Amino acid sequence: MGYLLTQNDKRTHMCGELSAENVGQSVCVMGWVQKQRDLGALIFIDLRDRTGIVQLAFDDATDRAVFDRAFSIRSEYVLCAKGTVRRRGEGAVNKNIPTGEVEIFVEWLEILSAAQTTPFEIVEDSRVNAELRLKHRYLDLRRPDMQRNIIARSRISKIVRDYYADNGFIDIETPNLCKPTPEGARDYLVPSRVHKGKFYALPQSPQLYKQLLMVSGFDRYFQIARCYRDEDLRADRQPEFTQIDTEMSFVTEDDVMRMHEGFIKRVFKEFLGKEIEGDVLRMPYAEAMDRFGSDKPDMRFGFELKNLSGALKDCDFGVFAGAIANGGSVRGINVKGGARFSRKEIDSLVEFVKTYGAKGLAWLKWAENGDVSSSFAKFLTEDEVAAVKACLEAEAGDLLLIVADKNDTVFAALGALRCECAKRMNLLDPMDFKLLWVTEFPLLEYSEEDGRFYAKHHPFTAPMDEDLQYMDSDPGRVRAKAYDFVMNGTEVGGGSIRIHDGAIQSKMFEVLGLSREEAELKFGYLLDAFKYGVPPHGGLAFGFDRLVTLLLGLEDIRDVIAFPKVQNASELMTKAPSEPDPKALEELGLCVVAEEE
Ligand code: AMO
Ligand code: AMP
Repeated sequence: MGYLLTQNDKRTHMCGELSAENVGQSVCVMGWVQKQRDLGALIFIDLRDRTGIVQLAFDDATDRAVFDRAFSIRSEYVLCAKGTVRRRGEGAVNKNIPTGEVEIFVEWLEILSAAQTTPFEIVEDSRVNAELRLKHRYLDLRRPDMQRNIIARSRISKIVRDYYADNGFIDIETPNLCKPTPEGARDYLVPSRVHKGKFYALPQSPQLYKQLLMVSGFDRYFQIARCYRDEDLRADRQPEFTQIDTEMSFVTEDDVMRMHEGFIKRVFKEFLGKEIEGDVLRMPYAEAMDRFGSDKPDMRFGFELKNLSGALKDCDFGVFAGAIANGGSVRGINVKGGARFSRKEIDSLVEFVKTYGAKGLAWLKWAENGDVSSSFAKFLTEDEVAAVKACLEAEAGDLLLIVADKNDTVFAALGALRCECAKRMNLLDPMDFKLLWVTEFPLLEYSEEDGRFYAKHHPFTAPMDEDLQYMDSDPGRVRAKAYDFVMNGTEVGGGSIRIHDGAIQSKMFEVLGLSREEAELKFGYLLDAFKYGVPPHGGLAFGFDRLVTLLLGLEDIRDVIAFPKVQNASELMTKAPSEPDPKALEELGLCVVAEEE
């Protein structure tokens, strides 16, 4: 059994805090053994806690029993050591660590617990595979980089609370067991024992509750809220994640955007020590699509889309002319300096765009030495090729990449391709932050498959006043009072001004194909509430995990979540989800239907 701490065993310092200033002091430290080095007459132990590492020293002046105990110690043992801080010998100073000038000459040592050999070494930048890391997440979280991430997350959360509290926002908790909230993903359902056959949904966001809080007169609300969405996972998506959720009364889009821009400025200043000068750029959705093929453009590099349809509509190349004739377009990007891509790399770009639904990728490579090779030039006249080059402002050294298709496909393929090229050319510095608001989103999205409109944001988002007139005649054309906050190609936040007018809300439900009865059944409580005096209101939610990931220059949101889930939504350490106790199922009145082979 390990030593049990007594009243006399008080930690005086964290390991990483000790420096030359402490020389001569008696100290008591506790932590994990990074490594033990046995040099015969000398033993050194590196002791680690979340603040860093300090060296424990044992030599011929050390008490024999203490020396013997030090000899028996292995990596990751948990120790309590008391001793005197002393300066290290001339040649023994370690400039790589802050405590490197000193060591503790140990006079008293106890093992608080022993440790088996860990499945991977507890070191910075572990190259261990993700599965093993997640299976032993408690050990992975012992590593200094993961500790820094999680601690940074906590610091940022403090800035969130300070900023919104300073600006009059009230922190209010909303239920986790609730009626479905409409954010467009599948719900996680929780069966009710008391009401057999009925289910709660876990909230996809606190959307409706926060709107009700405005009806109640709280005026400004915020919450660091857990949200649950049963959707396919990616590097920037988890089935449960955290939002900085907010709502404000008596505001316009501009008020909401300014308020949250203030938060972003504060986080940049307090966490990164960076000033954001002036206003964050605002760009309408239509412009973002036209120039970047994306509603979350990465503005760290160029390669903007150019529409070549005008120059090519009468060409003899069927792929190009056909796409334009069918109502689509031919667009291209100029990958500046891209001529250094080999033929093989270009072929892999062709495969890349196919994953976005493009049927092909036409390319023209203009080498530094003036040589031109191309997959499509032979199908065009010299003038047409010249027009393509001029439109894309091509020079020697460039690579032109062109997609002809339906507009949606062209945007999706080229939007992703410009990012892929930038990535391959190492143009993406994660700490070079380019921020923008994307505004004037379409209110609705048409699904060819279902033959109907869906709300692009959610059904409570207000249409732009000037587009209200098209709600009946051309709903697809209506823009919304909605805005997204985008950082380096990631949608970090989104929100809108809400509908607070009964007639417009009814119209919205009608366009969404929701009958009065259905609307009543789903959102009756909100519609009722709106009958008793509702302030104009709007809000926004930031994806907290995504924000922290970007601020730390990371790519995977799992690196800022203590216990994340993997691709198939399971948690490798606890092995959730798991089969329930049959008794629990019985109490809930549920029976599981075996999946057919
Ligand atoms: P939205 O659905 O756009 O809006 O979500 C807001 C932000 O939450 C983050 N986010 C996610 N982060 C990690 N994993 C996920 N699965 C995930 N899904 C979304 C994104 C996104 O920008 N109620 C509205 C907000 C409002 O209108 O006020 C809402 O939830 O960064
Ligand atoms: P093909 O006539 O099919 O051999 O195509 C000639 C060139 O046009 C090849 O480089 C194809 O990759 C390219 N191409 C085919 N379909 C498209 C498309 N939809 N958009 C852009 N280029 C295409």
